[in-house]
Amino acid sequence: MASMMLNSINFSTGKAVKFDYVGLKPLKVHQNILCVRPHSIKIAPRMLTIRANEIRDDGTIKKMGMSDEECEAAVVAGNIPEAPPVPPKPAAPAGTPVVSSLPLSRRPRRNRRSPALRAAFQETTLSPANLVYPLFIHEGEEDTPIGAMPGCYRLGWRHGLVEEVAKARDVGVNSIVLFPKVPDALKNSTGDEAYNENGLVPRSIRLLKDKYPDLVIYTDVALDPYSSDGHDGIVREDGVIMNDETVHQLCKQAVAQARAGADVVSPSDMMDGRVGAIRAALDAEGFQHVSIMSYTAKYASSFYGPFREALDSNPRFGDKKTYQMNHANYREALIEIREDESEGADILLVKPGLPYLDIIRLLRDNSPLPIAAYQVSGEYSMIKAGGVLKMIDEEKVMMESLMCFRRAGADIILTYFALQAGRCLAGEKR
Ligand code: PBG
Repeated sequence: MASMMLNSINFSTGKAVKFDYVGLKPLKVHQNILCVRPHSIKIAPRMLTIRANEIRDDGTIKKMGMSDEECEAAVVAGNIPEAPPVPPKPAAPAGTPVVSSLPLSRRPRRNRRSPALRAAFQETTLSPANLVYPLFIHEGEEDTPIGAMPGCYRLGWRHGLVEEVAKARDVGVNSIVLFPKVPDALKNSTGDEAYNENGLVPRSIRLLKDKYPDLVIYTDVALDPYSSDGHDGIVREDGVIMNDETVHQLCKQAVAQARAGADVVSPSDMMDGRVGAIRAALDAEGFQHVSIMSYTAKYASSFYGPFREALDSNPRFGDKKTYQMNHANYREALIEIREDESEGADILLVKPGLPYLDIIRLLRDNSPLPIAAYQVSGEYSMIKAGGVLKMIDEEKVMMESLMCFRRAGADIILTYFALQAGRCLAGEKR
């Protein structure tokens, strides 16, 4: 270990500055290192010449015109390369004010100054494994575009669905959630089609599991796609959404989905007590291994508009404010967390996503359970529309929004961008 005091001269002030040198090797005293005078700027360009590497026939790389043996011999002889000279300051534009350095002990920009440093200190990452791809399915053979969601389709369950899943798996997105467009003729006021074991969702799950046994399939548990009233629960004559009776139906729906092979059932209905009841129903049928992702903090939101168009599931009357949460409320989410945790939820979900990052953080800080966030249809459509109109860079905004979910504390993100983002991530790594 060597230690010595060095003298140098500060470029801008011309004042002498003292450095302590502590290193493994004694420093070879050299004018260019130890005493950087303004005139050394003149010799610097020559010192900074970068030589290209030469690749020889035998595949070895020759750097700086010396072989490895020559380098070793040089070191043994004590000819150790010198530190590069302090580079000259690049010119500032004419008119730049001449100021003395601010006396800052901390300059956060130091840790951002190169791509390598920025990558080293990046706190959050995004991987295709964090993404869950929501897919709309229907009985038809064709894939029909959804007007309000450019790039999204109602996929034919037999072909389009299977192809879309294959594309997602190709880029590492191996989790999907299914949303069915149910024919009007199969809807009724008690949503009984929801637990038809040969219905669209159970049938599609069986098909996918047959083809891709390791695919992770999430399902939606709620009555709205099956309800002639377009509500998530059974509607009483006076318009009240019946809680406990709805939960009874939801349990049958969850069991039917589990029996078809669903890995995670996700109640999105916001009835009280449904997580505990579904857990008990699954366990009673031998589905202890099936997880529950509870829509813990699901707000009554206008951001769901395009989704309801996709499934033709708009409520026939009224709104969903007696079961979905008031978007002005924050503390109320804590009550839902406590309920869902004590009832046995495996994953807690926040919905919508980007306007509700504070709620994601609230859940993250108040529960050890995995947190999911749903970037809903309206959020997707806004980014798409901005991109189509060339008002924003769609891909960059998409990737930024997904990273922000992760930063806020989401483990997984349900997003219609899953395939596009997965492709983007795959491209970055190549
Ligand atoms: C209904 C359900 C909705 C969404 C997912 N499940 C709509 C609603 O609550 O009215 C919305 C998803 C989206 O907008 O992307 N159980």
